[in-house]
Amino acid sequence: MQDDAKRETYRLALREIDSVLTGITDPITAMSTCAAVLHQRLPYASWTGFYRVVAPRLLRVGPYQGPVGCLEIPFDRGVCGAAAREEAVQIVPDVHAFPGHIACDDASRSEIVIPIRDPRGDLVAVLDIDSHTLAAFDEIDRDGLERIADRLRVCF
Ligand code: SME
Repeated sequence: MQDDAKRETYRLALREIDSVLTGITDPITAMSTCAAVLHQRLPYASWTGFYRVVAPRLLRVGPYQGPVGCLEIPFDRGVCGAAAREEAVQIVPDVHAFPGHIACDDASRSEIVIPIRDPRGDLVAVLDIDSHTLAAFDEIDRDGLERIADRLRVCF
């Protein structure tokens, strides 16, 4: 996907999410809507969804689109665990080169994970997008998804 087309896709996705979620502060509704919009709009996404912080250092799968994902991920495992542990965006161009990557889908080749925070700034979830394409994610994805994460904040 060309850079300009990608930027435009994220602009439209944010606009759609913002408009659909007007007046909504329910986190399940927010995560479901976000997963549906992004999965529909990103042609390179094979799995799009959320892992929620449900206990100290434990993530459990939330609303998603795509094949069945693994149910629980401790903070010390996988790309999602790294994003939660470090509270930092993870862009993994080749999941086979990432130590401890959890393969929920054998065809997965690259991945991006974005921390999701509530209005107090506490980590409440991570947004995970996987792709069957190597190096599908870049700084444009990071920028677009961080804007969407900011929009979701008021829903938690
Ligand atoms: N690959 C992720 C696990 C979640 S799924 O792929 C849906 C990881 O390593 O954290």
